[in-house]
Amino acid sequence: MQCSVRHLARRGVSTLKFGNSAQESDVRFFQRVLGAANVITSPQELKRYNTDWLGQYVGRSPVVLCPRTTAEVVEVMRHCNLRHLPVVPQGGNTGLAGGSVPVQDEVVLSLTRMSDVLSIDPDACVATVQAGVTLQQLDEALAPHALCVPLDLGVKATCQLGGNVSTNAGGLRVVRYGSLHGSVLGLEVVLADGTILDLNNAMRKDNTGLDLKQLFIGAEGTLGVITALSIATPPRPSSVNVAFLGVKSFDAVLATLRRARSMLGEILSAVEFEDSTCMRLVLQHLEGTQHPLAHARDCPMYMVIETASSGPHRERLDAFVRESAAAGDVLDATVASDATDMDRLWRLRYGVSQALVKAGHVFKYDVSVPQKQMYNIVDEMRSRLAADEAKGGMQHTVVGYGHVGDGNLHVNVLYDRNATSEQMARTQAALEPWLFECIRDMKGSVSAEHGIGQHKQHALAYSKSCDALRVMRSIKHLLDPSGLLNPHKMLDE
Ligand code: FAD
Ligand code: MLT
Ligand code: ZN
Repeated sequence: MQCSVRHLARRGVSTLKFGNSAQESDVRFFQRVLGAANVITSPQELKRYNTDWLGQYVGRSPVVLCPRTTAEVVEVMRHCNLRHLPVVPQGGNTGLAGGSVPVQDEVVLSLTRMSDVLSIDPDACVATVQAGVTLQQLDEALAPHALCVPLDLGVKATCQLGGNVSTNAGGLRVVRYGSLHGSVLGLEVVLADGTILDLNNAMRKDNTGLDLKQLFIGAEGTLGVITALSIATPPRPSSVNVAFLGVKSFDAVLATLRRARSMLGEILSAVEFEDSTCMRLVLQHLEGTQHPLAHARDCPMYMVIETASSGPHRERLDAFVRESAAAGDVLDATVASDATDMDRLWRLRYGVSQALVKAGHVFKYDVSVPQKQMYNIVDEMRSRLAADEAKGGMQHTVVGYGHVGDGNLHVNVLYDRNATSEQMARTQAALEPWLFECIRDMKGSVSAEHGIGQHKQHALAYSKSCDALRVMRSIKHLLDPSGLLNPHKMLDE
């Protein structure tokens, strides 16, 4: 069945008030349960919980709750259910789809204080943590056991495991370890009415009934609050190398990807790309960055290729680089083996989002498409916006980067920080629905890894059929019949 696609104006979904607003009496109740220090109401402090990482979505929550235990989350949710108070679960607030901040005056439930690493089992290679443990905190806790987290993002110091699971975050290691749908072994979830759903048995194998935890992976806080989880933690590679390549063209990026797969196979742990505009903006806006290549400093494309294994393998990476250069795909390259050098090279790729934010106002698209088509999208966006500029539209810079090994393109439009909402709407109208229709026709995804949140609500129907959306909404209704969890977002009617 063809689903009709609603085009909601961005930021235009919030006019209908949903649920009740927290009152003084609610605040007093929360203070009794959590302790006054863990109920935030000061306008100054509330700001950062109400504003998303990109500074593009700003809610009006009057109260942020910071529980320490699952039992406290249960009490909070029971009260909110009884009082019909909508709730936004929040982790590190690093999400890029506006999912982690209120649309109106919802209560914010911050998991930050639930930050205990509960256990690490070095035999099973499994860690169990509270949801507020940050990615970096878990990685550091695993290091002495020679284990690692099968996930890495450019914001690991602040994003939390609960947030990672709720967004089904992708990042730099999917090419090696697959998605969180495979790595997450168990979850503890508190439902909207305060019921604890214990799906956290932490076994690698469990074929008893439906695998309910999968529903919460990527649910963006709309089905329940994740309070704890177990995750498979692979052996920590003792030998890691990073190559930074200057590449001739996007076709050469794909040839290099194919060569990497065939020559580096089981030791390949990341294959990333960025175009020359990204590189220019990183070098211009991120302090301490330097062009790493001695000869070819003006390449159309750049790649970061990481290899990791339990023993030395540097010659294999060197041979791969040599062959890629001999084939004419790679114009120049450098390989790092010590930690400082590797960080320096990695920053040139994972620093792209930070550099863009410093450069201006960013509009993010995060799509999955067949690799062959990836950069055509960037080129076509550039021509569409150039045509609009010729007709009086404002100037834009379009950049392409992403996880090329996974077919995940980040294509961002950068424009003047002082652009008016009319100018932004004009830009969006020059690109949508054209872009989403292309993605649908390629059987791609309008949100590869950042999720739907507030940012991509109007695009969801391009990647999911009407029937699929109906089933999703039935599940939402079953688990959260009053619609209190993260309203106005992913599964909004
Ligand atoms: P938040 O931003 O706080 O929340 C995200 C969503 O999850 C919200 O809908 C929220 O309601 C829900 N949520 C959070 N915690 C819980 C919980 N305990 N229970 C239920 N729901 C919850 N993402 C990628 O996929 N790949 C990347 O490579 C990547 N790189 C990034 C780089 C930068 C510089 C930045 C700023 C972001 C990047 N992101 C990336 C996006 C973001 O970091 C991830 O989506 C991350 O997983 C969000 O975690 P968080 O703890 O900050 O969650
Ligand atoms: C990345 O891959 O760098 C992240 O997903 C962040 C972004 O897209 O800006
Ligand atoms: Zn990404």
